[in-house]
Amino acid sequence: MIGAVPMDPGLLLIPGPVPLHPRVLEEFAKPALPHYGDAWVRAFTETVSLMRYLWSAPEHRVFPLAGPGHTGLESLAYTFLRPGDRVVVLSNGFFGDRIREVLLTHRLKADVVASPWGAGPDLDGLRNALKRPTKAVAVVHNETSTGVTNPLEPIVEAAHAVGAFVLVDAVSSLGGIRLPAAAIGVDAAFGASQKCLAAPAGITPVAVAPSLWEATDPKGADGWYLNLFTWERYAREWGEWHPTPTTISSNLFYAFHRALLLVKEEGLEARYARHATASARLRDGLAGLGFAALAAPDLVSNTVTCVSPPQGIDANTLVKRLRMERNITISGGLGPLRGKTVRIGTMGTQAEPDVVDRLLDAVRSLV
Ligand SMILES: Cc1ncc(COP(=O)(O)O)c(C=O)c1O
Repeated sequence: MIGAVPMDPGLLLIPGPVPLHPRVLEEFAKPALPHYGDAWVRAFTETVSLMRYLWSAPEHRVFPLAGPGHTGLESLAYTFLRPGDRVVVLSNGFFGDRIREVLLTHRLKADVVASPWGAGPDLDGLRNALKRPTKAVAVVHNETSTGVTNPLEPIVEAAHAVGAFVLVDAVSSLGGIRLPAAAIGVDAAFGASQKCLAAPAGITPVAVAPSLWEATDPKGADGWYLNLFTWERYAREWGEWHPTPTTISSNLFYAFHRALLLVKEEGLEARYARHATASARLRDGLAGLGFAALAAPDLVSNTVTCVSPPQGIDANTLVKRLRMERNITISGGLGPLRGKTVRIGTMGTQAEPDVVDRLLDAVRSLV
């Protein structure tokens, strides 16, 4: 039958997307609505205020751009970086390398300070790299390929000491791991709707510190849709009926809005604690079965668990058997970790003890 899709998705435990909360699904399934008018403006205004709460940054400018996380990264490059600017990229995994790849296409100089996959950021290497003029330092807060959470405070301190701004990829941490953007001094950051927010993929919440915004000449910014000054202009000039520059799917936007209301209802601290508890339960359970975490205990992520299986168990076979025999989907390793590790998400709706226990039971039966 044309259009037939499997209706039983099983247990989806990859590091995003994650199963939608029923109340988010309810919004997503509603008939299409206009992307302007009173109801839209009310939802947009509330979304902006909820995004400031989410980033713990009441003064930051926030933008719910329609597009995947990469849209957020490119919007920051178009808006705040100029061809020839030097950006120091801290990389300890696949998504750090991806930042470099994207920035190079923007005709920027992207110098990588690399550390091994699974290790933390190379802070001495960073300080050394910052001896040369630098416009920005870019880093992934939570490296989804390795299950490492990079501590941001020392990175911000080193960057600000030389007048560079800090650009953070918070795609797999936003809403799951504490990230008080204003208190830490994060200047520019982007997340994604499909991970710890448990909304459908397709919105990237972007946040910009007032100091960076005010120091930037809009005339130098490139692009139109991905130029945040365009978004700011529409919110300012058309804010009473059509606050975004283009059409946004109403299903997607209202689902995202609902997901943010659920974050507020739960409370950020309670949400961070729920992610920490669920991931600790998963890590402990897997350790008891002989799995070894790639990240050191002080860097271990609360949203992505990256582990190598015990001797005699092949990572790819385990992923396949869980899918075929138990209807559970987890991820394999990326890049050099392909075939060596498995990755499991505890994000949003996945960060629940009964979900973790279902996976642990299944793994136990296979190893
Ligand atoms: C840390 C990190 N950055 C960026 C991305 C890319 O996000 P998107 O596919 O929404 O563009 C991902 C996706 O998994 C990620 O985990």
